[in-house]
Amino acid sequence: MHIRELDASDPAARRAWFEVMDRSARADRPHALLEAFDAFELTVTEPGEHARRIRFEARDGDALVGVAELELPLTENLDVGWCEVNVLPEHRRRGVGRLLWDSVVAEARAAGRARVGGEVSVAPVDGGPGMLFAASVGAVEKHREDHLLLGLPLGPAAQAVVDPAYEVVTWRGRCPDEHREAYLEMRNQMNADVPTGELDLEPTVLDDARLASSEERLMRSYDVRVATARRRVDGAFGGYSLLFVPHGADIAWQDDTLVMPDHRGHRLGAALKAVNYAELPASIGLVHTWTAPSNTAMHRTNTALGFRVVEHMHEMEADLALLADRVPPEGR
Ligand SMILES: CC(C)(COP(=O)(O)OP(=O)(O)OC[C@H]1O[C@@H](n2cnc3c(N)ncnc32)[C@H](O)[C@@H]1OP(=O)(O)O)[C@@H](O)C(=O)NCCC(=O)NCCS
Repeated sequence: MHIRELDASDPAARRAWFEVMDRSARADRPHALLEAFDAFELTVTEPGEHARRIRFEARDGDALVGVAELELPLTENLDVGWCEVNVLPEHRRRGVGRLLWDSVVAEARAAGRARVGGEVSVAPVDGGPGMLFAASVGAVEKHREDHLLLGLPLGPAAQAVVDPAYEVVTWRGRCPDEHREAYLEMRNQMNADVPTGELDLEPTVLDDARLASSEERLMRSYDVRVATARRRVDGAFGGYSLLFVPHGADIAWQDDTLVMPDHRGHRLGAALKAVNYAELPASIGLVHTWTAPSNTAMHRTNTALGFRVVEHMHEMEADLALLADRVPPEGR
């Protein structure tokens, strides 16, 4: 068994890496929502300026049996790395995951990172190997979110009515110039407000250029849909909801929903989600979302719309100073 870095310049190697990641991650997870190949290709062939990613391959002879990715944020959270380890089901429990993890840790240390985090998604009742693996490498839980699913169209009871004091403003793709300042303010409020449990992270701060580059990159892989609520009396924006539809997919991914502090209590969150869902093409039959169980308001909003919990997503973190040094893996 040996570990090496993915040759990002080789299209066949990229495809093989993606296939192993996809098949391994789906093996125990019927409800997994994973990055599609075109979005993966973009991050490998045209990396963004705010993160560096290193991708590892575990090979048994010529056969690719497992993969791992280490993401190193470059703008904030410079002490952190994010990782994902995936091993094909038929090659598990032979130490492949641990070898990949050792490479991740060595690279994270070389980049000056003090801790490595990762998300582990498992069925709420049956669990899965991810948590046992995370525990075995010394990672501890810092936060948990529920992964929820909603079937569309919304039932009659879930149709949300927008408070008449507000008008709905929607757009697809890039935020129009006239709303960018207000939208940036809401996006930064969201990044500061979203509950992250014991995860000790600096919030991402968006300026116009960073928002524009994120919009441009997302639009290459997703239909980006935004619904906002604007108070009629003074034109103040009270909240937004952000929905992605991967190109060619029949599912949607509910990202941020925020109601600004002064505008809470009008059920704007549910109304904005429902507006976005109502405007989707009829081919979109499912929406995925993630919410912390401790985020009572959003959890209630989601279950009232008809979302049900299908997975628990555990945010795990390993403190590299506490890990015993292991012999570096061979072949690197
Ligand atoms: C988690 C995963 C990467 C483990 O890969 P692996 O090659 O089987 O892992 P290893 O053989 O190196 O196992 C290392 C240790 O993890 C623990 N472990 C892993 N799978 C386990 C299982 N099914 N049951 C019990 N313990 C398990 C054990 O302590 C094991 O050591 P041991 O075999 O000496 O007892 C693999 O199951 C997988 O790809 N799962 C889907 C993706 C995922 O959840 N990744 C983790 C989060 S990023």
